[in-house]
Parts: sequence; structure tokens; C-alpha cells
Amino acid sequence: MFRRALPLLLVLAGLWATEAVAQSQRVLIQRGETLVRQHCALCHAVGRADASPYPDAPLFRDLSQRYPVDVLEEALAEGFTSGHPAMPEFTFSAERAAAIVAYLLSIQTEPNARPQRQ
Ligand code: HEC
Repeated sequence: MFRRALPLLLVLAGLWATEAVAQSQRVLIQRGETLVRQHCALCHAVGRADASPYPDAPLFRDLSQRYPVDVLEEALAEGFTSGHPAMPEFTFSAERAAAIVAYLLSIQTEPNARPQRQ
């Protein structure tokens, strides 16, 4: 009996694990959205359809057109500056940097865009 149920139990355990990962990913993305709305929305468009309040500040949903967004994770945790005088320098904990990047990845208009190598 147990032998026959085992494959089914394994499938159920797998589904549960997949759902748990998806759930924690959603929590991470939400946390990132909160952080970005707190710290960046003053200047940047942080959503899927808004305009940047500060005209020079790039739309967050288009960042992947410039470079792979995940490179920002390290930068945000080490002290991130855009080089633009208007933008303050930010340093986030590794956990917060990961949340911000998870959120940014979730809103990219071109999620798979990678800069072309010359
Ligand atoms: C006071 C306004 C302001 C705030 C607040 C701000 N930014 Fe910016 N940011 C700018 C401006 C202006 C630019 C354009 C810089 C340029 O193109 O030279 C910019 C550029 C950027 C870039 C592109 C840099 C590049 O090299 O292409 C990223 C990524 C970025 N900001 C992320 C953030 C994040 C993440 C936050 C919040 C944690 C944030 N910014 C908060 C004004 C701001």
C-alpha cells in the first residue's frame, strides 16, 4: 500500500515545495516594491505604466534595455550611485537589495533583454 502511494506522495511534496518557492518569491517581490516606492519613486517611474517624476530618471521597467538588471543586486548592496548629481547614493542590506532586484525583474518590459556584445 505504502509502496503504491509513495510516487503520489513524492509528487505532492514536489508541488508543495514549488508552491512554497513561488510564495516566497511573491513576498520578496512585494517587499522590493515597497522599498522602491519608498526610496526611488520620488524620481523614477517604478510601476508598469507611470512616467518618471524626474524627467532624466530612467523608467525602472526599461532598465533591462540597458543592462542585465541582476547586476544591480551587488551594486545596491555595496553602495549604488548613478553618477547623476540628483540621485543620492544608496546602500541596502543584501536581503533588501535582493528584494529590489526581484521586483525590478518582475516589471521589465523586456525580461530577457541582454545588451548585445560587440
Ligand atoms: C532624487 C532623484 C532620484 C532618486 C531618489 C533615485 N534616483 Fe535613480 N536616477 C536618478 C536620475 C536623475 C538618473 C539618471 C542618471 C543618468 O542617466 O545619468 C538615475 C539613474 C538610475 C539608474 C540607471 C543608472 C545607469 O547607470 O544607467 C538606476 C538603475 C537607478 N537610478 C536606480 C535607482 C534606485 C534603485 C533608486 C532607489 C533606491 C533610485 N534610483 C533613486 C534620480 C534618482
